[in-house]
Amino acid sequence: MAGTYKAVEVSAPGVLRVVERQVSEPRAGQVRIRVEACGICHTDAATVMGIYPGLTLPRVPGHEVVGRIEAIGSGVSRWKIGQRVGVGLIAGEDGVCEPCRRGDTVNCQNPVVSGVSADGGYAEVMIAEARGIASIPDELTSAEAAPLLCAGITTYNALRNAGLRGGDLVAVQGIGGLGHLGIQFARGMGFRTVALGRGREKEKLAKDLGAHVYIDSAAEDAAAALQRLGGARAILATGTSGDAMGSLVSGLAVRGKLIVVGVPQDPIQLNAFPLVFGGRSIYGSLTGTPIDSEDTLAFSVLENIRPMIETAPLEQAADAFARMMEGKARFRMVLVTKGG
Ligand SMILES: NC(=O)c1ccc[n+]([C@@H]2O[C@H](COP(=O)([O-])OP(=O)(O)OC[C@H]3O[C@@H](n4cnc5c(N)ncnc54)[C@H](OP(=O)(O)O)[C@@H]3O)[C@@H](O)[C@H]2O)c1
Ligand SMILES: [Zn+2]
Ligand SMILES: [Zn+2]
Repeated sequence: MAGTYKAVEVSAPGVLRVVERQVSEPRAGQVRIRVEACGICHTDAATVMGIYPGLTLPRVPGHEVVGRIEAIGSGVSRWKIGQRVGVGLIAGEDGVCEPCRRGDTVNCQNPVVSGVSADGGYAEVMIAEARGIASIPDELTSAEAAPLLCAGITTYNALRNAGLRGGDLVAVQGIGGLGHLGIQFARGMGFRTVALGRGREKEKLAKDLGAHVYIDSAAEDAAAALQRLGGARAILATGTSGDAMGSLVSGLAVRGKLIVVGVPQDPIQLNAFPLVFGGRSIYGSLTGTPIDSEDTLAFSVLENIRPMIETAPLEQAADAFARMMEGKARFRMVLVTKGG
């Protein structure tokens, strides 16, 4: 045992508090990480509010975690002490359920979920499954790499797996933690990139991030504006409002795809007409695997893509979380520890 460490736990719904915990040894197949940075994802709200299915409290949130391995459990051969690694949301498949047996491990039916079924990265120390970690390239600081492990991988994977071709018109709806990376990935992958935001405030930022076109969905009908551009081959919906998503189907080109990555609380209303006449589709996409994280990090280095971040000390997690919930973060709050 190596003393105690600081963590920020959800002790009751809505309550984030700093606690001191006892450091424990990693079990077989696990590593212990000295955390340097952890991004605050909107999905953390489901832990903080106590509504994530299967969640029990107290729980330490956080699934955009970067740190250094400081202890290794038995049976772990791939990773070394001192190596810088990252942990995302789905951080350990069971390997035995049907999706796992078919190789679709991100859709494991009984996964280790950081910050939900296991304590996450709002802490100085985190225990992770060795099969759930990714290697971090030297070109990225820990605070820069952290948001790429959820906001990054989620948008990168959704775009690269959508069957698109260079030059396609691709729109990113919602310019927050996910969206601001989605815009950069869409541009970096060679798509004609449209940013869909509310109001004019984010227009310049969206263009600086690489958007060719900005559509203000508060001022005009976003679907009609997309049709005037020829219709989107894909729309990556990252917003937290279902109401804002359904009507976007009419902005798709024939056979275009609405890819839902945001997880709104309210339902998405759909009109069958544009789905049927034109063979348009809508489907969801869930983050990715640890090797997808490594691809996301490598592509970010290759194309010089970085998250825009605001850092805060771990102890100020509650304030930083509130800032994210108020939509004030530009664009990702990242908690940093003294070692980070
Ligand atoms: N699929 C996955 O694997 C995955 C992974 C991570 C996160 N998520 C989910 O993705 C969503 C976004 O996460 P985030 O971390 O990017 O959140 P965030 O940084 O808080 O950004 C929230 C976004 O929602 C948009 N928004 C808020 N209210 C809206 C409204 N009434 N109408 C339209 N848009 C609205 C904002 O768009 P504006 O730019 O217009 O202000 C902003 O871009 C969350 O639901 C989160 O749970 C899913
Ligand atoms: Zn996330
Ligand atoms: Zn499984």
